[in-house]
Amino acid sequence: MRKFFVTGGAGFIGSAFVRLLLDEFPSCEVTNFDALTYAGNPDNLEGLDSLRHYFIKGDICDGDAVFAALAENTDAIINFAAESHVDRSIASADEFLRTNILGTQVLLDVARARGVKRFLQVSTDEVMGSLPDDERAFFTEDSPFRPNSPYAASKAAAEHLVRAAHHTFGLDTVITRCGNNYGPRQFPEKFLPLLLANALNDEPIPVYGDGLNVRDWIYVDDHCRAILLALEKGRSGATYNIGARNERRNLEIAKSILDQLGKSHSLIKFVKDRPGHDRRYAIDPTLVETELGWRPRESWESGLRKMIKWYRSHTDWLERVRSGAYREYYARQYGAEVGAP
Ligand code: NAD
Ligand code: TYD
Repeated sequence: MRKFFVTGGAGFIGSAFVRLLLDEFPSCEVTNFDALTYAGNPDNLEGLDSLRHYFIKGDICDGDAVFAALAENTDAIINFAAESHVDRSIASADEFLRTNILGTQVLLDVARARGVKRFLQVSTDEVMGSLPDDERAFFTEDSPFRPNSPYAASKAAAEHLVRAAHHTFGLDTVITRCGNNYGPRQFPEKFLPLLLANALNDEPIPVYGDGLNVRDWIYVDDHCRAILLALEKGRSGATYNIGARNERRNLEIAKSILDQLGKSHSLIKFVKDRPGHDRRYAIDPTLVETELGWRPRESWESGLRKMIKWYRSHTDWLERVRSGAYREYYARQYGAEVGAP
């Protein structure tokens, strides 16, 4: 019986990964440890097999709680738990430093103390900063660390701690760094679900700056399959960059989604730019492709169709997360520029 300890498994990517584990390993046990912050959502876990999936509400910074929740002979900790939104980190970095840095160290310490066989850290391409608008420039595993936002800096610090635990204590670790994910159950503070939610409701779509920033998009299940391969077959101490070779400009995405929904481009509203806004992310996934044999299953078109279909048929999910605290966040972030959601 394989035993997995997933942190942040009530969030967007973590919940997709928990689903994948339960599908791929019919006899595994998954402990899902999540603090249920504003981004964590029990609705994301609906329908999971309660005989093999145990949800525990807890904070990764609380070593005693993590220690108590971790089953004997756990095969792997997969750390998704994080504060994950760049704009929030610009507004206030405290929670990012606490969860993303201190929380990761707590997990590493408990992993060692409990003899967990492998520790996988889910990281981001943003630790490598911004690329020039030059199609020959890519992030590789050897690109230098150049984090530009407090979020990226906290994730870079976490990677350093994982590396140190491997080097100094011989903990079996793997790091994966991915680009921008899209798919079902993403909290609508991030660009794609925000765009989709606003368009479905005929509300303005805030596009930062000139809208020409480039992100490298990957369907969430493709990301999760790459993490699983890295967990199963990745070299101890290695880092793998994960990307689907799918660079898009923000404005191009906004127009294309509006077209697919049959909505007018006039919903696009240019707003003031994000401070320190990274211009371009682009991942060279050669290593994960050649060493682990990973390939994305979804094209941009098929992934987007799935995402749109999911949001269209889960308006209740969307409206629940767009109420209360979300409205306050939205008013703070966009002010009078775009009005209330
Ligand atoms: P998310 O914000 O949707 O989910 C984060 C989850 O972590 C939530 O369920 C939240 O409740 C939980 N959490 C936060 N603080 C916690 C704490 N102190 N203790 C326990 N749980 C806590 O994020 P996501 O988009 O699913 O991202 C998951 C991971 O993947 C993050 O580590 C993020 O840095 C990384 N990542 C995300 C992307 C992306 O495009 N979303 C890309 C690359 C890497
Ligand atoms: P986001 O989803 O926040 O991811 P990240 O900043 O981690 O890449 O943003 C994706 C891109 O979309 C980024 O270039 C910022 C831009 N963006 C907007 O133009 N408007 C918005 O309202 C948001 C949230 C993001």
